[in-house]
Amino acid sequence: MSDYMSGFGNEFATEAEKGALPEGRNSPQKPPMGLYAEQLSGTAFTVPRAQNKRTWMYRIRPSVLHEPFERVPHALLRTSPFADVVVTPNQLRWNAFPIPEEPTDFVEGLITVAANGDSNGQAGIAIHVFAASKDMTNRFFYNADGEMLVVAETGRVRFSTEMGLIDIEPGEIAVIPRGVKFTVSLPDGNARGYICENYGSLFKLPDLGPIGSNGLANPRDFLTPVAAYEEREGELELFAKFGGGVFKASIGHSPLDVVAWHGNFAPYKYDLRKFNTIGSISFDHPDPSIFTVLTSPSSETGVANCDFVIFPDRWLVMEDTFKPPWYHRNTMSEYMGLVYGQYDAKEEGFGQGGGSLHNQMSAHGPDADGFEKATNAPDEPMKLSDTLAFMFESRYIINPTRFAMESDALQTDYHKCWNGLKKQFRK
Ligand SMILES: [Fe+2]
Repeated sequence: MSDYMSGFGNEFATEAEKGALPEGRNSPQKPPMGLYAEQLSGTAFTVPRAQNKRTWMYRIRPSVLHEPFERVPHALLRTSPFADVVVTPNQLRWNAFPIPEEPTDFVEGLITVAANGDSNGQAGIAIHVFAASKDMTNRFFYNADGEMLVVAETGRVRFSTEMGLIDIEPGEIAVIPRGVKFTVSLPDGNARGYICENYGSLFKLPDLGPIGSNGLANPRDFLTPVAAYEEREGELELFAKFGGGVFKASIGHSPLDVVAWHGNFAPYKYDLRKFNTIGSISFDHPDPSIFTVLTSPSSETGVANCDFVIFPDRWLVMEDTFKPPWYHRNTMSEYMGLVYGQYDAKEEGFGQGGGSLHNQMSAHGPDADGFEKATNAPDEPMKLSDTLAFMFESRYIINPTRFAMESDALQTDYHKCWNGLKKQFRK
């Protein structure tokens, strides 16, 4: 069992051994119990206090102790820009990528579906799927390029991180900050899910404006692990994603040797089923931004580097309204995934573990069947149950990878789902 502390981005303090955490006038930089002090900075030293993120770790060995890194190939992990793909305005949709039968761990099983921006320029995102069938053993990973928002879709996932243990199941997410080392085990043997690798500013809770002080994702439902460490030596491997590439170094000990830590830069999890949905109780829909769980702002107010938006169970009670999402074209680019159930605008074709991509100004909306059904539905409240779709929405065009475009999972007939929309104009 993992233990957690509640709150979003709080200044947490936790120790796995009593007395490991410096207290009072003890210098945090001269810790007890022979531990080394090490600061992990998640923001520049000088950003305003309200956004400043850093954590002090008290560890058995400092992180400098490893052999040199060497660049290693990775089958399908990629960073934009991609020179080998022509991005088109076409609507795209994929079936789920299969979980490999050949034993494949979390890092080996990363598949980049699409990306934008530039990890070196610290703007944009990459969208990966992970499809894994074995635990990471004797190997650890950190991502220097961005934080990783992990959406579990099949099977449970355990992240053993420098700051403690996080367990997630389908319906939950975990966010592993940039630089934090971790290893992944799979309690159910197999696991699959989605990852938003965020090169931009850190995900945070959106402002609530006139909604007031409660609602959407409430801070108390975010959980950060208590300190947990391992004291282990051996011939181990440390992988790093850095500057768009993957690197590997030998390390003679487990880097998960943080006995105590305090700070506000730490992994966290959130159960999406605790999201407090807010919607119309008269007529028409609000924009889907009303379902924003976390946002990574860009430098332009209200224009996100990435919004993480969900479509969970909810009542649709508005009157005289077309209830599925409307037809639209958006200046923002939208990648969607489905964790479970059925998405109300697409009853067929958008399957669990699959994805769709509607880039900037590309038209989309309910398919012909969805339109027909919604148009003829009785004008009464309806409950959407046992469903969880999500969206990574970004201001930058989202470029699919060559692998994604050449994969058998790509639905080459996706556009046909709208072919049955008939002219209905009457004078
Ligand atoms: Fe959309």
